[in-house]
Parts: sequence; structure tokens; C-alpha cells
Amino acid sequence: MKQIRFSLLLNSLTAIIALTSSSNSYAFDAEAAQVLAKKNTCLLCHGIDKDKVGPAWKKIAAKYKAMPDAEAKLTHHLTSGEKVKFPDGHEEGHKILESDSPADTQNLVDWILSL
Ligand code: HEC
Repeated sequence: MKQIRFSLLLNSLTAIIALTSSSNSYAFDAEAAQVLAKKNTCLLCHGIDKDKVGPAWKKIAAKYKAMPDAEAKLTHHLTSGEKVKFPDGHEEGHKILESDSPADTQNLVDWILSL
């Protein structure tokens, strides 16, 4: 009997550890992310809730959240200057994020994905 209880306890502990460590990979500093976004004039073209010239970040989060490689995709998007389509139909290279470090870039990506 004791043996069974102990293994149940162990199972729940393992589950808790798995949960906390998976949320850790999306740990971010929301304030630092917003400062970086403002510095980069991202918000001229994107609202958090509202579409501007670019789609609302909440929409982007909803689209990418479930993808396992969401972080890598958005990081590529923000660092490569890949072509994007504007509402008037013209295409141009997306703004390249100016960031002091890859960690700052990842922080912004993780924050956008959390919206
Ligand atoms: C000059 C306007 C403009 C600026 C400035 C701008 N964006 Fe964008 N952004 C767009 C447009 C337009 C799209 C693409 C819309 C489409 O393809 O449907 C886009 C797409 C995105 C996407 C989605 C990419 C995808 O693959 O779906 C993200 C994330 C994003 N922008 C983040 C940012 C961040 C962060 C900044 C600041 C560094 C920024 N944008 C600055 C116009 C802009």
C-alpha cells in the first residue's frame, strides 16, 4: 500500500517538474520586449490588438502559438528582412530588428507569442 502511494506522489512530482520547466522555455520580460519594440518603431505598423499596416500581434501569436518551431520562424522573420506583402499589394523587405543580443531578440519573440 505504502509503495503505491509513494509512486503516485512521484508521478505527480514529475508532472509538476515537467510543467514548470516547459513554461520556463517561454520565460520573458514583457517590459523589456515592449521597450525594444518601441525603439524599433514596430508599433507604427503593428498594434497589439489592432491591425495597422501589419497584422495585430495577437493575431500573429494565435497563428504561430501551436507550431513547434514558432520561435525559430519569428526570429528568422525579424532578422532576415524577408519580403512581406502590405495591404496595398506592394511587397518590401520587412524591417530588420535592431537588438543588442540574440537573447533580447528571443525575449521579444517570446513576448509576442505569449499575447
Ligand atoms: C513598415 C511597417 C512595418 C514595420 C515597421 C514592422 N512591421 Fe512587422 N509586418 C509588417 C507587414 C506588412 C507584415 C506582413 C503581413 C502579411 O504578410 O500578412 C508584418 C509581419 C510581421 C510578423 C509576422 C510574420 C509572419 O511570418 O507571419 C511579425 C512577428 C512582425 N511583423 C513583427 C514585427 C516587429 C517585432 C517589428 C519591429 C522590429 C515589426 N514587425 C515592424 C509591417 C511592419
